[in-house]
Amino acid sequence: MLELHNKAKSSYIEARVNNQTVGGCRFDKDVGVIYDYWAEPAYATAFLQALINLRDCENSALNCACEWVHTDMYGIVYRKSSLEELPEVIELLDNTKDTLLRTFKTLWVERGYISKYPPVIARRGGQLVGVHAYTLNEKYPDTCKSYYHAVAQGHRRLGIGKNLVLYAFIDANMHGIAKYYVNCAETTDGWLFYRGLGLDSTTKQNEFGTRDYCFAFDIKGMLTLKLFQKKIEQRA
Ligand SMILES: CC(C)(COP(=O)(O)OP(=O)(O)OC[C@H]1O[C@@H](n2cnc3c(N)ncnc32)[C@H](O)[C@@H]1OP(=O)(O)O)[C@@H](O)C(=O)NCCC(=O)NCCS
Repeated sequence: MLELHNKAKSSYIEARVNNQTVGGCRFDKDVGVIYDYWAEPAYATAFLQALINLRDCENSALNCACEWVHTDMYGIVYRKSSLEELPEVIELLDNTKDTLLRTFKTLWVERGYISKYPPVIARRGGQLVGVHAYTLNEKYPDTCKSYYHAVAQGHRRLGIGKNLVLYAFIDANMHGIAKYYVNCAETTDGWLFYRGLGLDSTTKQNEFGTRDYCFAFDIKGMLTLKLFQKKIEQRA
């Protein structure tokens, strides 16, 4: 049985099972923001659900979705972007020189996604170093669909791309969404990235005359990258 423990006057919440710590985070109940969430894979879903229940019963007036902010070992902060940060997001995607990634502004404005799906960003000090824009339950039911995902040159291969995807998994889990879908043009690094996480793909011809690698997988309960690690170990 998973129990939540909260030291008096502290926002730090620990998840314990039989008195063993199996997870933790800081939780700002007033605004529904979870900071630096971690959990043992076996207890990750139960812990998240307990936090969502806690938010709902402590503040029933609060209808906003739970969000989380994560800081990694390099001090890079992952969170949803504000409207004021949009020009930086566009600049980072434009700097990739990838034609597809440069369609972000047009697509997100055209479809009215700017405030509905604010891109998730990674910030290192003052610098924006990563972006991930995805939708929840839009084109495909019960699915988180990844559209724009990029890490600035000079900051790649540090796990920032992974943390941005993990953010989407947790967000999707908070909304009860079970699947993830992304199609990556063969001309981008995207398919190498997802394959590097141990995932399988199918291929299809795209409208630009090249191929897309399509990754569709289950993310229910996938709240920690340790699960990827498991997949990779199973393959080896
Ligand atoms: C794809 C991208 C976002 C990955 O970001 P990242 O921060 O470098 O990725 P991570 O450090 O989290 O990489 C995780 C794993 O993915 C795999 N991987 C990532 N980039 C790779 C590449 N170019 N080639 C081969 N494997 C790669 C590796 O297994 C890596 O683990 P390792 O570094 O321990 O070997 C980044 O390369 C990028 O911005 N590329 C240009 C834009 C793009 O192609 N976007 C994808 C659109 S679908």
